[in-house]
Amino acid sequence: MAELGHDVIGVDVDPGKVAKLSDGVTPFYEPGLEAVLRRNLDAGRLKFTTSYAEAAAHAEVHFLGVGTPQKKGEYAADLGYVHAVVDTLAPLLERPSVIVGKSTVPVGTAAALGERARALAPVDVEVAWNPEFLREGFAVKDTLRPDRLVLGVDRQRDASAWVEQQVRELYADLLHAEVPFLLTDLATAELVKVSANAFLATKISFINAVSEVCDATGADVTVLADALGYDERIGRRFLNAGLGFGGGCLPKDIRAFMARAGELGAGHAVAFLREVDNINMRRRSKVVDMAAQACGGSLLGANVAVLGAAFKPESDDVRDSPALNVAGMIQLNGAVVTVYDPKALENSRRIFPTLNYATSVVEACERADVVLVLTEWDEFTALRPVDLEPVVRAKRVIDGRNCLDRDVWRQAGWVYAGLGTS
Ligand code: UGA
Repeated sequence: MAELGHDVIGVDVDPGKVAKLSDGVTPFYEPGLEAVLRRNLDAGRLKFTTSYAEAAAHAEVHFLGVGTPQKKGEYAADLGYVHAVVDTLAPLLERPSVIVGKSTVPVGTAAALGERARALAPVDVEVAWNPEFLREGFAVKDTLRPDRLVLGVDRQRDASAWVEQQVRELYADLLHAEVPFLLTDLATAELVKVSANAFLATKISFINAVSEVCDATGADVTVLADALGYDERIGRRFLNAGLGFGGGCLPKDIRAFMARAGELGAGHAVAFLREVDNINMRRRSKVVDMAAQACGGSLLGANVAVLGAAFKPESDDVRDSPALNVAGMIQLNGAVVTVYDPKALENSRRIFPTLNYATSVVEACERADVVLVLTEWDEFTALRPVDLEPVVRAKRVIDGRNCLDRDVWRQAGWVYAGLGTS
């Protein structure tokens, strides 16, 4: 928002994060973000605070972008953080305001938040929903040049035209650049986001299901995906078979979608998402089995090198990371596991302190009985067999992301195994 020329205050309840951000340091890895942060701090358009009162005094448009993680022990989304924002902010508002939600929420949340905010605010307040579609690793580009903008407004409210006007003004530069703008009701906006992520998850699990059949027949899923991709109705993107999806969004969003649809009496409509989830989770155990097989049937006492811990490249996010999950399962099977990741070591250590962590690929692969590539960082796809040959105990590699050139590895005498590539 500051980069688009607005005067912005960012609020967070964590004083540590606020201090870092105020110093121009991002509390997570996101390519290009630190430069944008610093540029706007220096220009005086951006500051950070823990004070809601300061935010309420400063602005009439309040973006709400807190997390909606999976509830412990159930599929539904935890709306605790979203409610806390509205409950804290609304009573402090000083002039007619709009709260623009960006968090991924179950359909029906925005309408309920409108009621909640109005019951607490001393002034007029509206709630609109403007779902966020950015991808980690491409956050800056996806924000400054999104594929589309979706704005859901409460059409029963007289002020809905005013809300639309406020948001259009904020995004004037993007609208001028002809980013498609779709005005909807609140429920549609909420559902667009959840459906988009459910579709992406389904696409990944579809190709992974086909990959299982490829394994059973000796067909090659990577060539198959290329061939499918030439059909414009299908498209090649998100057809990379491998270890499957993880992260803070896709897994919990399909589960929250199932939970919400069930509450609405439409659970049967999205029952297929349970299979999407199953196919995805099966990838992780499959890679563990492949590692055991590579080590002669048992992981007990084996040395296993795991390259990659982040849920995808260009991120240090390890939430529901397939790579880290596999590393943990292999360790539970009695192997000594050493993990290396270019950015995610610190986060990994925090949630899996018992794994060994190396500071380089070569260190992770020392005396390895098998090397697993589980996140397709450039640093790993660029590896050549000769880089690892001096240190490994056996020339065996499992390519969990089908990202290595298998001919090169096989020609160098390695036992190579991919997923759905025989
Ligand atoms: C996802 C969506 O792509 C964004 O549009 C959305 O805004 C975001 O969630 C969100 O809800 O906030 P993100 O979680 O950053 O973005 O990651 P993706 O790029 O979607 O990747 C998700 C997972 O799928 C990763 O683990 C990745 O390795 C895996 N994946 C992706 C595959 O296994 N195969 C593919 O072909 C593509």
